[in-house]
Amino acid sequence: IEAAVNDGPLKGRHVLVTSGPTHEPIDPVRYIANRSSGAQGAAIAQALLGLGAKVTFVTGPADVAAPMGVDLIEVQTAAQMQAAVKAALPADAAVFAAAVADWRMANTVDEKIKKDGNGLPVLEFAENPDILASVCAEKQKPKLVVGFAAETQDVIENATAKRKRKGCDWIVANDVSPSTGIMGGSENDVTLISKDGAEDWPRMGKDQVAQRLAEKIAEALG
Ligand code: CTP
Ligand code: CA
Repeated sequence: IEAAVNDGPLKGRHVLVTSGPTHEPIDPVRYIANRSSGAQGAAIAQALLGLGAKVTFVTGPADVAAPMGVDLIEVQTAAQMQAAVKAALPADAAVFAAAVADWRMANTVDEKIKKDGNGLPVLEFAENPDILASVCAEKQKPKLVVGFAAETQDVIENATAKRKRKGCDWIVANDVSPSTGIMGGSENDVTLISKDGAEDWPRMGKDQVAQRLAEKIAEALG
C-alpha cells in the first residue's frame, strides 16, 4: 500500500507547503493574526501527497488538521515559519498558502498587560519578513514557486503586481471580500496568474482547486 501511495507523477519530488495563520504574541495571553482556517493549504498538501510527492507542511495554528503523511512542522510566528521554510529547502516546488501576519509587536512583554487605570495600551508594530519573497531571492529557489494573493479589490491587478514584486512563478489570486463568502467556506474562486497571463477558474470546492493546482504543478515539473 505504501508503494501505491507514493506513486504518481510527483514521485521523488519534494514540495514545501506553508499553511494557516501565524500568531504574533502581544503578551503571554494575546496575539494578532490573520483569519485563516488552513483549509486550502491542507487540501493542497493532500492533493500533492496523492500525486506521490514528499510534502513538507509548515503550518501555523490552523482550524483544519494537517493531512496524514506530510512531514509536519508546526509554528506560531512568521519568524518561526521563515526559519522552518529555510530549513526545509531544497525543494522542487513550494506553495505559500499561509496567511502570514504582516506585522509583529516591536517589543513583546513577558507579563500580561493589565487594565490598570493608566489609559489604553499603545502597541508598536514591526514588519515581518516576507517569507515568499525571501525564498524567491534565494540561490536555492525551488524550480516552481507558487504564492497566494487574497485581495478585496482590483484582484487581478493587485495579484499581477504582487507576482512581479515577489518574484514567484505563479500567484493563486482570490477575492476574499465578505460578500463572496469565500473566507471560512469550503469553496474558492481563483485566478491563476503566471507570466503568460491570467487563467480564471470556475468557483469550486477547495479540494478541487487543490487537485487542479497539484496537477498543474506536476505538469510544470515534468
Ligand atoms: N507571504 C509570506 N510572508 C509574508 C507575507 C506574505 O510568505 N510575510 C506570502 C503569502 O503566503 C502569500 C503571498 O505572500 O503566498 C501574498 O501574501 P499577501 O498577504 O497577499 O501579500 P503581501 O505582500 O503581504 O501584501 P498585502 O497583505 O499588503 O496585500
Ligand atoms: Ca499580507
